[in-house]
Amino acid sequence: MSGPLPEQAKGEAPSSSGHASGRRVPFSIGSTIAEARERPILEDSTSAPPVGLYVHVPFCASTCDYCAFYQTAPSADDVRRYLTAVAMEAGLVDWPRQLTTVFWGGGTPGLLAAPDLARLAAIVRERAGAAVREWTIELAPSAVTEARLAALREAGVTRISLGVQSFQPALLEALGRRHTRTQILRAYDRLRAAGFASINLDLMFALPGQTEEAWRADVREAVALAPDHLSTYCLTFEEDTRLWLKLADGRVKLDPEFEAKMYLSTWEWLAAAGYQQYEVSNFARPGHACLHNLNTWRMREWIGLGPSAASQYAGWRAANIADLARWADGVGEGRRLTEDRVRLSPELLAEDAVIFGLRMNAGVDLEAWRREAPTAPWGEVEAVLDRLVSEGLARREEARIGLTERGRLVADAVGAEIMGAFAAMPAQS
Ligand SMILES: C[S@@+](CC[C@H](N)C(=O)[O-])C[C@H]1O[C@@H](n2cnc3c(N)ncnc32)[C@H](O)[C@@H]1O
Ligand code: SF4
Repeated sequence: MSGPLPEQAKGEAPSSSGHASGRRVPFSIGSTIAEARERPILEDSTSAPPVGLYVHVPFCASTCDYCAFYQTAPSADDVRRYLTAVAMEAGLVDWPRQLTTVFWGGGTPGLLAAPDLARLAAIVRERAGAAVREWTIELAPSAVTEARLAALREAGVTRISLGVQSFQPALLEALGRRHTRTQILRAYDRLRAAGFASINLDLMFALPGQTEEAWRADVREAVALAPDHLSTYCLTFEEDTRLWLKLADGRVKLDPEFEAKMYLSTWEWLAAAGYQQYEVSNFARPGHACLHNLNTWRMREWIGLGPSAASQYAGWRAANIADLARWADGVGEGRRLTEDRVRLSPELLAEDAVIFGLRMNAGVDLEAWRREAPTAPWGEVEAVLDRLVSEGLARREEARIGLTERGRLVADAVGAEIMGAFAAMPAQS
């Protein structure tokens, strides 16, 4: 894929094992493409196209052993500077139309003190208008306090994504996570008591030392809390993280077969528990799929604020530089310093829409993208898709195509093949 993608989509990079990367789209849990298709949320042809806002809050108390997201341990000065710069950056954006979704990710946005959360919310609200249908914030369990939750409710936040990862002390320790099981349970109770419309729990599997029973226990405990949404991410060994170094040293090992088995078991358990899978790693009760992420996977528009945040709108895709001081200096001088800037073309959007769409249970509407990008190399793409169908990895339902359960297990390899097919495209100027 060319150019940067938003935080929540970054995790779609191929996993080290070649299986579907767990970080961050089922047919064969008995659902057809039509059944799995999201209701036309944000796809209403009578209204303006959706546009999301992603705000990257680059602060964490410490760095987890697996994490490659841009973040730093903040000083009070850093936070002040960050909030001033976000307000200035918002002033530099030519806002295309009313926002439909907001997502604060990180980092750990929930690390900001309650008055700072309120300040950030005020910057967002100035641009958000009445059209916002979902406003998510990522929280770490240790940062869930009543004061912060009150500030978030007051601001209009509707959805909380809680970074649980595991309930088991030994596995949390193996990940370099600082929270405890007790903190997770207390955080969840507080979130429910505060009355947020939707709560997601992030869990991770294929962790060093994790057995199938241990993963099953984590899934069971998460389901027992009855969250509205679950994200189950297969551990990705990101370059230069502590876990990556351990992998390079041979202190931990990859086990692709275990990963594949855990994917399949997870899909079965969560379907039995009433969670509908709508993307390789994402499951929701009816009406709780993450609208912001759907918007990005469908290759619509979003604006990113904050260091390392990606944007895709007004004909461009780019990422802000991943450096708090340089990003803030640039914004102070009236410039948004970006990298990996690419001009959007219908063909580029079609390529990414097919790759990301295949990861979703609803699949992707090929006819619609053929109309959007008539000059894309559809002959090559169709040849790959026909072969996937004949191998039982994909299936078609009228104009839509999506992966089968077996196909989803190798979604990264499928993505690489689709990229290869689009590479037959004449270079864009
Ligand atoms: C950007 S993180 C932010 C969430 C919040 N800071 C926290 O960790 O509590 C969002 C989620 O990505 C997942 N994640 C991050 N790095 C990962 C990796 N290397 N492999 C798999 N999942 C990962 C974790 O489940 C995490 O909760
Ligand atoms: S996983 Fe979350 S808390 Fe841990 S370093 Fe990454 S962003 Fe920070």
